[in-house]
Amino acid sequence: MIFHDDLVELYDLQLNTTISIDFLKGALAHRQQFGGGRGQAIAKAIGMKSGVTPSVLDTTGGMAGDAFVLASLGCNITLLERSPIIFALIEDAVQRASLNESFARILEQGFVIVNRDAREYIREQIAAGTRQPDVIYIDPMYPHKKKSALVKKDMQILQRLHGGDDDAGELLNIALSYARKRVVVKRPIQAKTISEKQPNTCIKSKKTRFDIYTIEKM
Ligand SMILES: C[S@@+](CC[C@H](N)C(=O)[O-])C[C@H]1O[C@@H](n2cnc3c(N)ncnc32)[C@H](O)[C@@H]1O
Repeated sequence: MIFHDDLVELYDLQLNTTISIDFLKGALAHRQQFGGGRGQAIAKAIGMKSGVTPSVLDTTGGMAGDAFVLASLGCNITLLERSPIIFALIEDAVQRASLNESFARILEQGFVIVNRDAREYIREQIAAGTRQPDVIYIDPMYPHKKKSALVKKDMQILQRLHGGDDDAGELLNIALSYARKRVVVKRPIQAKTISEKQPNTCIKSKKTRFDIYTIEKM
């Protein structure tokens, strides 16, 4: 990790590059502006429609891109990330962005970040009887082992840091016992489902498939 006065970065020796998160500039800001709003696949997958803006528990925070897109569309978000290293990047990005007016609105609407394993977190919430989120979102690490042009550099680095998320099937089962309306799992378009359990329906975009496990109609 590299700690500057105003930025936290992760340096990757193999790619000789750094990664950090910025909600206000670059790819995330671009996606916020031009990503297709409430009509984009991820928004449809979580069940967003006119008059319906679900609350989302994002169990696999990563570089916080998906959480930020959903928050920008009005969702109340709780983001979980188990890696303390990745979490430090998210925390730093939230702190920097909080000085910005439009991000401050996102924080007000609800953008909570928690450095925990989602399986433990959900078990505790169930035991405590806390309010369930409408949607639980799961985006496990893609199962690629090799460096590939298809995998973005930040995801390659995350993969090398923590490996594949082999326990995603267990997470799905736990999520299904906690979400109010649905669990959404993001997969590469051709990949297998993360467990034997088959989704009720899917929404596809060019490279991505969202498997939707319905609990109750929106
Ligand atoms: C593919 S990345 C998610 C990318 C994210 N959707 C984005 O837009 O940047 C997967 C992340 O989920 C985290 N993760 C996987 N399983 C988890 C769990 N059970 N609890 C918390 N975090 C988890 C990994 O550490 C990794 O950072």
